[in-house]
Amino acid sequence: PAEDEARVEEIKRLLEDNNAVLVAHYYTDDAIQQLAEETGGCVADSLEMARFGARHPADTLVVAGVRFMGETAKILSPEKRVLMPTLEATCSLDVGCPADEFAAFCDAHPDRTVVVYANTSAAVKARADWVVTSSIAVDVIEHLQARGEKILWAPDKHLGSYIQRRTGADMLLWDGACIVHEEFKAKGVEDLKGLYPEAAVLVHPESPEPVVELADVTGSTSQLIKAAKELPQQELIVATDRGIFFKMQQAVPDKTLFEAPTAGDGATCKSCAHCPWMAMNALDNLAGALRHASGEIRVDEALRLRALKPLERMLNFNA
Ligand code: 13P
Ligand code: SF4
Repeated sequence: PAEDEARVEEIKRLLEDNNAVLVAHYYTDDAIQQLAEETGGCVADSLEMARFGARHPADTLVVAGVRFMGETAKILSPEKRVLMPTLEATCSLDVGCPADEFAAFCDAHPDRTVVVYANTSAAVKARADWVVTSSIAVDVIEHLQARGEKILWAPDKHLGSYIQRRTGADMLLWDGACIVHEEFKAKGVEDLKGLYPEAAVLVHPESPEPVVELADVTGSTSQLIKAAKELPQQELIVATDRGIFFKMQQAVPDKTLFEAPTAGDGATCKSCAHCPWMAMNALDNLAGALRHASGEIRVDEALRLRALKPLERMLNFNA
């Protein structure tokens, strides 16, 4: 629509005027992903977003995604202004892991190395020895296990148990889940495989174990897009937020992509498979953030310095 086009032009102007760059996640609106790409920003998984924001010379980072992504950018680049289209965009994993309860859990298990998923608040990261994203989690835990360390893991129990199965590490798990990925059903994926027996199954590891067990490839959003290109199959069943289809389909224009069903009867649930918090990012509030310098992420300096250590460990880790 013409309105959107005008908004896009305005955002491009505002990005330039503010020496700002747009860092977007694959689950945001197609229009936002497109804009990030056209303006020299990035569309990426959460690890690549962190790396890109930390390295980019812009004065302002506009992070389109959820709150923890903006906070991570600010922790890594305190000298930059970090804006988000809305500060209301949280994540069920972050909400399900309050810092005080988490600290008590850590205190009760002082013998364990504390590894937290990036999908957490700055305060939870500040209590951790390591931060990991899904793209690097298995490698980091393997490394810690080889050193004989026992792990306390939070908050995603599905990702935690996946890492545990892959590595055999001794892991104590926090009881959290992603409300989007938790909805995928193995029965639905099996039914779809019945219709398309040649299809490969791509799964984000925040999904429940029975779904992960059906996967040909399990990985972060970027890893799933890469796999879509590399796999020989022409049909792909994808169990992650449907926002990923924009870039994935561009990467494999000749392949057929299917959304993994979120209901046991094989029906595709239209309101599912899309993160309600990612969906809060829109062209309007993105323009508004730049126009009024609103939605600015601030992190207390003492807290930032504590959260920085485990984040830097992740960024410096080479598998
Ligand atoms: P990725 O690191 O795979 O992009 O995952 C982030 C996320 O929130 C998935 O739900
Ligand atoms: Fe959090 Fe799930 Fe949304 Fe990702 S998709 S931001 S894990 S609620």
